[in-house]
Parts: sequence; structure tokens; C-alpha cells
Amino acid sequence: MAFTQPPLPYDTDALEAYGMKAETFEYHYGKHHKAYVDNLNKLTEGTELASKSLDEVIQISFKDTAKVGIFNNAAQVWNHNFFWNSIKPSGGGTPTGQLAAKIDQDFGSFDKFKEEFSTAAATQFGSGWAWLIDDGGQLKVIKTSNAENPLAYGKKALLTLDVWEHAYYIDYRNARPAFIKNFLDNLANWDFAAANFAA
Ligand code: FE2
Repeated sequence: MAFTQPPLPYDTDALEAYGMKAETFEYHYGKHHKAYVDNLNKLTEGTELASKSLDEVIQISFKDTAKVGIFNNAAQVWNHNFFWNSIKPSGGGTPTGQLAAKIDQDFGSFDKFKEEFSTAAATQFGSGWAWLIDDGGQLKVIKTSNAENPLAYGKKALLTLDVWEHAYYIDYRNARPAFIKNFLDNLANWDFAAANFAA
């Protein structure tokens, strides 16, 4: 069965009022994300990987020098699926409940978490991702380059921000820090992070 691109969890113009234009989704979802899905299908067609789950393909192809292209496309499909759910209209603000308590416990405060996350996202050199992860019961902020993700390392992702230039160039041009601030202020989907934390 071919790998598919899940529909966006909101309309392409749903985040216009929250710092992300419909045009961003036309390119980022409609072209970049779609290309990763199309490439993954081309690269796995007729191989045993075509019948595996996306998670399995990522884990099997990671660090396999003969499968670099497969890993990059599979992981980028997964990362974008996860990213569209990491943002929502009228997001941002603060988490609640058990996740909020755990963030306070592991980072010192929510402000400390925001500082750490912002630094990771801003200092990822070149293309990559910033993540909030659950690393065996300890919440951590990490950054990964290119397509790499927590799943490849056996860690649980809770929330992510795409810091590839294609993620912010239409809305923010080269101003990555403004894009990061807007994510934390207006877009971050703490319900999604809490559901991942509880799962
Ligand atoms: Fe992206």
C-alpha cells in the first residue's frame, strides 16, 4: 500500500490570523510535504518496505547508508504529519494539567522551557527541527538536523517546530526568531503535546 499524505487538520487559511499565510500551506504542505510522500512511494515501490508502516520504514532505514534517500523522505513525511498537528489556530499560551506540572519540574518553569526551546530552534544551523521530547520519563528539548527525528532515536516526540527555511520564508523571510516567537505565542498546540505525553 502506498504511503499517503494525511489531510491538514484545518483549512489552509485557518492560521492567517495567527501569523501563517495560506500561501505557506500551499507551498509547505502542498509542494514540500507532498514531494516527500511522492518520493517515498517512488523509492519503496516494489520493495519490502512498501508494506511497512511509516514508523517501521524510519527505524529500518535510519543509519543505513544504502537507504539514506528512503530515510530522509520517510522521516520528512512523519515530521510534517507531526508538525501540522503541533500548531493550531489560537494556539500558544501555556499547557495545563500533568504536562504543565512536568514541564515545571523538568525545566524549572514554563518560561525556562520557552527559553530553551527558542534557543534550540534558533541555533539549529541550517535545516532541521526543534522538539519537546519525553526521553524515558524526562522531558527534554532537542534539535535535529535535516530529516532526523526523535523516533529514529527511540524517543517520544511531544511537540515540534520545523525550522527549515521553507517553513518561514513566505511569512517571515529570513527572520527565524520572529517565526519561533510566533509559534510559542500563537500556534503551539499544547492539547496535542499533552495527548502525546499521556499516550
Ligand atoms: Fe518543512
